[in-house]
Amino acid sequence: MIDPFLLAEAGGSAAVPIAILLVALVGFAIAYVVVGPGKRRGPKRHGDIPLAMRPYHSDEELETTGMTRAMAWGVALAVFASLFLPLYWLIEPTRINNAVDDFYEQDVAAGRTQYQNACASCHGTNLEGGSAPHPDPNVSAPWPAPALDNIVARYQDSEIVDDVENFIRLTLDYGRPGTPMQAFSTLSGGSLSDNQVDQLIAYILSVQTGELPEATSYVGASGEDVFANECARCHGQQAEGGVGPQLINVFERYAWTGEDDASLEEAREVIRHVLENGRDVPGKAPMPAFDQTLSADAIEAVIDHIESIQELGGPRFGQIGGDPQPPEADADGDTADGGEGEADEGTASGGTDIDSED
Ligand code: HEC
Ligand code: HEC
Repeated sequence: MIDPFLLAEAGGSAAVPIAILLVALVGFAIAYVVVGPGKRRGPKRHGDIPLAMRPYHSDEELETTGMTRAMAWGVALAVFASLFLPLYWLIEPTRINNAVDDFYEQDVAAGRTQYQNACASCHGTNLEGGSAPHPDPNVSAPWPAPALDNIVARYQDSEIVDDVENFIRLTLDYGRPGTPMQAFSTLSGGSLSDNQVDQLIAYILSVQTGELPEATSYVGASGEDVFANECARCHGQQAEGGVGPQLINVFERYAWTGEDDASLEEAREVIRHVLENGRDVPGKAPMPAFDQTLSADAIEAVIDHIESIQELGGPRFGQIGGDPQPPEADADGDTADGGEGEADEGTASGGTDIDSED
C-alpha cells in the first residue's frame, strides 16, 4: 500500500507525512482488531448453541467496562483525527514547495550542462558573450554573439520584447535566419526537446547579473566605421540588404522627398527611433536596439552615413527570407513621379531572393 521506494525517494520532507499516515493505518488496524465488528470477545463455551442465542456479556458488563472501552477508543481515534488533519495541512505546503524547489534545481543543473554543450562555444562559458564566424565565408569579421547573463536587464525597458523568457524560447525555437544563431529545438529540426529548452531558460535566468553592458563609444570614429562594425553584418557591406532590409532608399521609404529639410528630419527621426529601440516584426529576425550599445554620437554618425548613401527611386527591397510586402508592389510600376533614372538600378537589386549568401 505504501511504496517503500517512494518513501526512500521522497527524502526528508515527505517522510514526515508518510510516517503519520503509517501510524494512522497501524492505529486503525489495531482498533479494528480490538473493537472491530466480527470479533466478539465474550464467553466462548457455547459451541452448539446457534449464534443469535448464545449468551453474551451481562447487561451490567456491557454498560460499564464494554462501553468505557468502546468510548475510550472513540476518543482516541477522534483525537488522532483532529491532530492528524491539521498537522498534514501544516506540513503539506512546505512539502510541495520543497518539491518544486528540487525540480527547479534539477532543471537548472540540466540546463547548465546543455548550455555548456550547445551554447558556450559562441556565447561564452560564463554567458559573457562571444562571437561566431560570419555565415558568409567571404566576410572575415566575426558575428558577435550577445552576452546572455544580462539578457533580462538588456530587454528590461525594451519596446520590442516584453517577455524575455518567451523571447529566448522563440530564439531557440526558430533561430535567427541569416545569422549564426540556429534553431535548436526539435520544433525546427534541432535536438532540444521542449523540456530541455525550459531547462536552458531556467539556467540562463538563474545566472543573471543584472548589469548592463557599457556602450561602445566609437569616439572619433566615422559613421562609416560604425556601420561596418555594427550594421553591415545584417544590412550588407553596401547597405544592400541581407538579414535586414537594404537601407539605400530607407529615407525615401519614410517620406523624404529629396528636397525639403522637414521631410529629411522626419525620416531621420524614424531611423533614430528604430536604432534606439530596435524593431521586432513577429516571425522575423529582430532589429536590435542600439541605445545601450552605441553612444548618442555614434548613433548620429551612423545616421549621417546612411543619409549620405541615400538614393531616390521607389521600392527597392532586399532581405533574407523574402522582402516585406512592399507598400506599392502591386501597383504596376509607375507609382511615383518618374524615378526612371534609378529605377533600373532598383530592379536589379530588387529581386526577391537576392543575397543567397548561404
Ligand atoms: C554558432 C554560434 C552560436 C551558438 C552555438 C549559439 N548561439 Fe545563440 N546566438 C548566436 C549569435 C551570433 C546571436 C546573435 C544573432 C543576431 O545578431 O541576431 C545569438 C543570439 C542568441 C539569443 C538572443 C540574444 C539577444 O540578446 O537577442 C539567445 C537568447 C541565444 N542566442 C541563445 C542561445 C542558446 C541558449 C544557445 C545554446 C542552445 C545558443 N544561443 C547557441 C550564436 C550562437
Ligand atoms: C542582427 C541583425 C541587424 C543588425 C546588426 C542591424 N540591423 Fe537594422 N534591421 C534588422 C532587421 C531584421 C530589420 C527589419 C525589421 C523589420 O522587420 O521591420 C532592420 C531594420 C532597420 C531599419 C529600418 C528599415 C526600414 O525599412 O524600416 C534601419 C534604419 C536599420 N535597421 C538600421 C540599422 C543600423 C544603422 C544598424 C547598425 C547600427 C543596424 N540596423 C543593425 C537587422 C539588423
